[in-house]
Amino acid sequence: DWTMAEFRATKIEEIRAQVGTGRVICGLSGGVDSAVAAVLIHEAIGEQLTCVYVDHGLMRAGESEQVVSLFRGHYNIPLVHVEAETLFMNGLAGVTDPEAKRKFIGKTFIEVFEEEARKIGGADFLAQGTLYPDVIESVSFTGGPSVTIKSHHNVGGLPERMNMKLVEPLRELFKDEVRDLGRELGLPEVFVGRHPFPGPGLAIRIPGEVTKERCDILRKADAIYLEEIRAAGLYDAIWQAFAVLLPVRSVGVMGDGRTYDSVLALRAVTSTDGMTAQAFQFPGDFLPRVATRIVNEVKGVNRVTYDYTSKPPGTIEWE
Ligand code: XMP
Repeated sequence: DWTMAEFRATKIEEIRAQVGTGRVICGLSGGVDSAVAAVLIHEAIGEQLTCVYVDHGLMRAGESEQVVSLFRGHYNIPLVHVEAETLFMNGLAGVTDPEAKRKFIGKTFIEVFEEEARKIGGADFLAQGTLYPDVIESVSFTGGPSVTIKSHHNVGGLPERMNMKLVEPLRELFKDEVRDLGRELGLPEVFVGRHPFPGPGLAIRIPGEVTKERCDILRKADAIYLEEIRAAGLYDAIWQAFAVLLPVRSVGVMGDGRTYDSVLALRAVTSTDGMTAQAFQFPGDFLPRVATRIVNEVKGVNRVTYDYTSKPPGTIEWE
């Protein structure tokens, strides 16, 4: 792609000019954006970049392994893998407010980065895969008053006195352009084509208190949902699909017994940039099949619903 080849070359020069001989630390979230940013920056400045993958225990099933193998295996880019599940779970205990969750996770990420930066002898810059829609949505609601809808993990929640400057080479791009740039940089198609995943991870898909147990339940249900979507050949027709574990219990019957377990909501939307979205219309037998599999296979869930809300007035994520 000619345009992306040019963008790549221009950005590489810009990154070199901004960074000079400084050291950069880049947080990988497991998603496409931070991966593309990291590969681009690595191409620009090589060993001045250190990539840090913080495993907060809020990732989807198998995701950590994929990121580690992409960077260490495919690109041979050194990667610091930080196991921080306990740190995040302890801090999330008792937290139920969506913005409080986002702020805690954003703040803790930065603290972990700063600690890793100290370990490598200090970094002058923090690289992030912030996109254009992240910038806009964190500032104000389009066309409305200046109200923060959600503190986006990439943009909001940074400490006031952070001692690193930001490198954000994707700030002008929309998601489809980031994917093109990723292809240009040689990222595997399965990685480039991945659905977006929010920085705060599964924490914002578990309304109410986040616990390891609830994360494990959600991971299982989410994996079944996505496996069925891929098997049906629908993955690429959908912008984003995921499950939400609700803080609501309902009565059910299984075998000869009564159950009283959690309700799970499934969401799938079409969108071009995440700013507006419509509920995806699955073929008739798809959702009942997924609901049956989830209730049979995931202990702790006994009812499955589907979310038909558009954005606006809903948002894509529930928190
Ligand atoms: P909403 O829920 O605001 O989401 O309609 C729009 C898009 O942004 C993703 N999202 C995030 N991405 N950090 C991110 O990197 C975040 O904190 C965050 N919150 C929401 C969301 O998954 C959707 O694609």
